[in-house]
Amino acid sequence: MSAERVVNLAPIIPMKELNTKETYFNPFPVYDVLQKESPVRFDIERNCWDVFLYEDVDYVLKKHELFSSEQRRMVERENLLRMDPPRHKQMRDLVNKAFTPKAINDLAPRIKEITAELLDEVGESGEMNMIADFAMPLPVIVIADLLGVPPEDREKFKVWSDTLVKGVVENKPEAFAAVEKEQVQARDELRDYLADVLELRRKEPHDDIMSALLAAEIDGTKLTDSEILEFSMLLLAAGNETTTNLITNGVRILTEMPHLQKEVAKNLALVPTMVEEVLRYYPPVQAPSRIAKEDVILRDQLIKKGDAVVAWVAAANRDEAKFSDPHSFIVNRKPNQHLTFGKGIHFCLGAPLARLEAKVAFEELLTRFHHLNVKKDALIERTQAPQMYGVVEYPVTFKQSL
Ligand code: HEM
Repeated sequence: MSAERVVNLAPIIPMKELNTKETYFNPFPVYDVLQKESPVRFDIERNCWDVFLYEDVDYVLKKHELFSSEQRRMVERENLLRMDPPRHKQMRDLVNKAFTPKAINDLAPRIKEITAELLDEVGESGEMNMIADFAMPLPVIVIADLLGVPPEDREKFKVWSDTLVKGVVENKPEAFAAVEKEQVQARDELRDYLADVLELRRKEPHDDIMSALLAAEIDGTKLTDSEILEFSMLLLAAGNETTTNLITNGVRILTEMPHLQKEVAKNLALVPTMVEEVLRYYPPVQAPSRIAKEDVILRDQLIKKGDAVVAWVAAANRDEAKFSDPHSFIVNRKPNQHLTFGKGIHFCLGAPLARLEAKVAFEELLTRFHHLNVKKDALIERTQAPQMYGVVEYPVTFKQSL
């Protein structure tokens, strides 16, 4: 790959097959048809390859020697997600020192506390806006706490992180320019803000990720300030909307299949497999992407060096060659080797955190509330970015358990 990073906008442009409200909201039947009719296809409009089968998506994500992550979208700078080896390994080993499973597990009581506080606030009223009241603040507060950001700045954080993952509605230069302008501003403001936090932690280390990143060292190599800042911004961009969508998508399923509410509430040991099934069934990230490093033949198609390849994990997760009865939500599905957190060297670093937050969120919701229903006449629309899967608002009603 040349030193110049490839700009790859394909994943943030909706494919034409999803151009009606209905198909955009429920893209899974469309993925299913594409998987069967053109499992590896080139889309001229988006200028990229789309790959739909489990086996191929798995291959593209695993084979980092053939498919590079060195690309950027809109205003991104170099970060872990967009690095190839050997840089990726050096950086991932260093951040692993701060982002350890123990560090995540230690957060469990704090996550429970935040969850309880958020649900206490709405309990009496019998209704809530699932996203604004719960699924959005929970991950933002957790990441803000992890980074050492004071509570009064959380709302600013939410706005910055949302702007950074925003999609483009129309495939037109003006639309890209408008989003790019907003993203540059958000990125610069967030970076300046985090640079101040970094300085504070350098003077006075705390028990947070920023301090651990400053201290992390392997064979005398440490992260530079700029690397710490880019990584912190990546945590916000990669961890907030995804986890918000995981929780909301789970609540959507609980309201779409109400019998599950009783079943899981009676047996909370089902929550971990339920979380995995939500991840498989409604994946918050629909499709990571890569750039071919050399010519590759996949199912008789020639993918040329430099071509963009979009790996549709959302389609792969419903491939009948891998999952039995793939379009059914099976709360205790096992095994469940979905690809929602990716595969290979870029496997989601935040997966243990996202799983923990979702587990606590569903346990608390199902213990405290019953008869969860989506509010009558609510307008439920999918969020704008086609590489993500979530809804804009999800107002619900419920009864409080005694
Ligand atoms: C990477 C999904 C939550 C941090 C990834 C990748 C996926 C993903 C698919 C790999 C992308 C690729 O291969 O190009 C998700 C989903 C989440 C979630 C579905 C929630 C349900 C989080 C959280 C954090 C996080 C909570 C951190 C607080 C990261 C980082 C990477 C990553 C740092 C880059 C890893 C690397 O390149 O080595 N995530 N993520 N994610 N995720 Fe997550």
